[in-house]
Amino acid sequence: MSKTPRHFLVDTDLSPAEQAEVLDLAAIMKQRRFDFKPLAGPQTGIVMFDKTSTRTRISFAAGLSELGGSPLIINPGESQMGHKESIYDSAKVFERMVSVVIWRTYAQAGIEELAENSSIPVINALTDDYHPCQVLADLQTVREAKGSTQGLTMTYVGDAANNMANSYLLGGATAGMHVRIAGPEGYLPDDAVVAAATQRAEAAGGSILVTTNPAEALADADVVVTDTWISMGQEDETEMRLKLFKDYSVNQDAMAQAADDAIFLHCLPAYRGYEVAEEVIDGPQSRVFDEAENRLHAQKALIAWLLYASGLADIPAEL
Ligand code: CP
Ligand code: NVA
Repeated sequence: MSKTPRHFLVDTDLSPAEQAEVLDLAAIMKQRRFDFKPLAGPQTGIVMFDKTSTRTRISFAAGLSELGGSPLIINPGESQMGHKESIYDSAKVFERMVSVVIWRTYAQAGIEELAENSSIPVINALTDDYHPCQVLADLQTVREAKGSTQGLTMTYVGDAANNMANSYLLGGATAGMHVRIAGPEGYLPDDAVVAAATQRAEAAGGSILVTTNPAEALADADVVVTDTWISMGQEDETEMRLKLFKDYSVNQDAMAQAADDAIFLHCLPAYRGYEVAEEVIDGPQSRVFDEAENRLHAQKALIAWLLYASGLADIPAEL
C-alpha cells in the first residue's frame, strides 16, 4: 500500500472507479450507521473554516465522532495559519497531531499548498472554485433515487461560474453522467474546467454540454440542480446578480421540461423565490434533505477511504 497521502481537493482527485468505491462505502456507512467500525483507533480531524457553514461543519463533526474520532473545529480567525504563520509550517504541525485536515477557504491555491506539504489527507470543504464533498453527497442521493448514476442526465441551471457548477461538471463526469450546465453569457464555467470535464466524461461514458439556453439543458433531464446566485463573498453584487440570473430560476415550468420522474437537488442554503421556486424545493420531486443527510455518510466514507488509500489505516476484513 502506498504511503503517499491521498487528498480530495477537486472532484477529479478520485478516478471513476475510486469514486464508485467511496460511494459504495457511503451506502454501507448509511445502512450500518452505528455498528460498522471502519477505522481502528482514535482519529482526530481538524475542520477549519474561513467562511461560514451549517451542513459542512455539522456533518464533519458528527462524522468524525461516529468514526470513533474527535473533530477539532477551528472557526474563522481562530488559528495562526494565514496571518501569523505560513501554510507550510501549519501543515508540518498538523501532520504531527491529527489524521486528516478538512478546510473551507477562499483560494484553491491555498488548499493545494497545504496538501503539497502534508503527509496526511487534506479534504476540500469548499473553495471559491470547487465543492467536491457536496457533489459526492449529491451522487449518493442520485444512486438512491435512480439506482445508478451511469448514463443519467444531470442539469444545472443558474450561476454557472461558481464552485458548485465546476464540481457538478467534474464530479458528474466522473460518475459517467451527461452533465448539462446553463447560465448567462459571462457566467459560464472556465474553458479549462469544461475541457477537464469533457475528457473525464469521455473516459467514463458521459458527456458535457454548456449553454446559455436553459430549455436546451433541461430537456428530459433526470436530475435538476441549482445553487444560490450569490455565493459567499459576493454579497456586494446582490442587486446585479438578482437581475442577471432571473431567467435561470428552477420553477415548475423548468421542472416540466425535465423527465417526469426527475429529482431536484440543491446543496443548500437555498433562497426560495430566486434560484428555486418554493413549489419545487418543497415539492414531491425534491430530495434536498436526503442530499443534506448524505453529506454525513459520504464524508465518513471519504475520510476512511483516503486513510486506507494513503496507507494510514487498515481496511477492515469485512470490506
Ligand atoms: N451545502 C453546504 O456546504 O452547506 P453549508 O455552507 O451550510 O456548509
Ligand atoms: N456556491 C455557494 C455554495 C454554498 C454551499 C457558496 O460558495 O456560497
